[in-house]
Amino acid sequence: MAQRSPSPPAPVVLLDPAEVRAACDRARAGGHGVGFVPTMGALHQGHLALVSEARRRAGYVVVSVFVNPKQFGPNEDFARYPRDLAADVAKLAPLGVDVVLAPHVDSVYPPGDETRVRPGAIAAPLEGAHRAGHFEGVATVVAKLFGIVGPCVAILGRKDYQQLLVVRRMVRDLFLPVDIVGHPIVRDPDGLAMSSRNVYLSPDERRRALAIVAGLDDAARAFARGERSARALERCARAPIELAAASIDYVEARDADTLAPIEGDVAARAVLAVACRVGATRLIDNVVLGEDAPPLGS
Ligand code: PAF
Repeated sequence: MAQRSPSPPAPVVLLDPAEVRAACDRARAGGHGVGFVPTMGALHQGHLALVSEARRRAGYVVVSVFVNPKQFGPNEDFARYPRDLAADVAKLAPLGVDVVLAPHVDSVYPPGDETRVRPGAIAAPLEGAHRAGHFEGVATVVAKLFGIVGPCVAILGRKDYQQLLVVRRMVRDLFLPVDIVGHPIVRDPDGLAMSSRNVYLSPDERRRALAIVAGLDDAARAFARGERSARALERCARAPIELAAASIDYVEARDADTLAPIEGDVAARAVLAVACRVGATRLIDNVVLGEDAPPLGS
């Protein structure tokens, strides 16, 4: 009779950063590299793909679940951001995660905490222009989490493309000894990028949100056919989104490494990034022209 391979042991859920650091120190002393996936919970298949990548790359895997108040603006969704730690741990259990770090806000920002990481120009456009203080909040919490876990590799999703670049630049500028791996966007079968915020969408909004992926797909196909004008590619992506979105924050083609604006033609790789509201829900998505396949496939 075929033997079923045993399920991996359930992850240990730790609230205390000191306990997580001690667990990671023990793993390193035992010869394991530590892989890390920072999350705010409400885990979906996109997160689980990051965790599987961490599992492939490291012998010991830590996932943080922490809704970081410092990266939300006063009118954003911090209070209602979906939180269900038990459900998150159940989703992580089959993946062989060793530790889930789920700290209280006070242990990440204890009384007297005052040091902040202020990213530079890479954080200024796109999300930075529409969410004041957001990337300072992200960089600060990611630096703290890296300090607690001490990973040799951390996996971040490319849906938050600018966040990935901000974290990469922070790691470079602060000489942090961690490799940052960007994982491709994971999409639902109809193309919508997976996001914890998709749960806010009504069925009608969920349908209208597909205009985002349709716009990016149109632009990626135009690029594949030889269109290089940054403005023309932006117009191409924007057209369907304008019909479906309540408002658009940006549809912009920028240098894929520096996020510098592109005046005329796209020379090599460019990220075409979108942020818009569908109903009241703010969604972001992107495609890297010259690198990613059109998001709706062939
Ligand atoms: O992408 C996220 O979920 C968050 O911005 C992160 C990286 C976990 C920091 O809070």
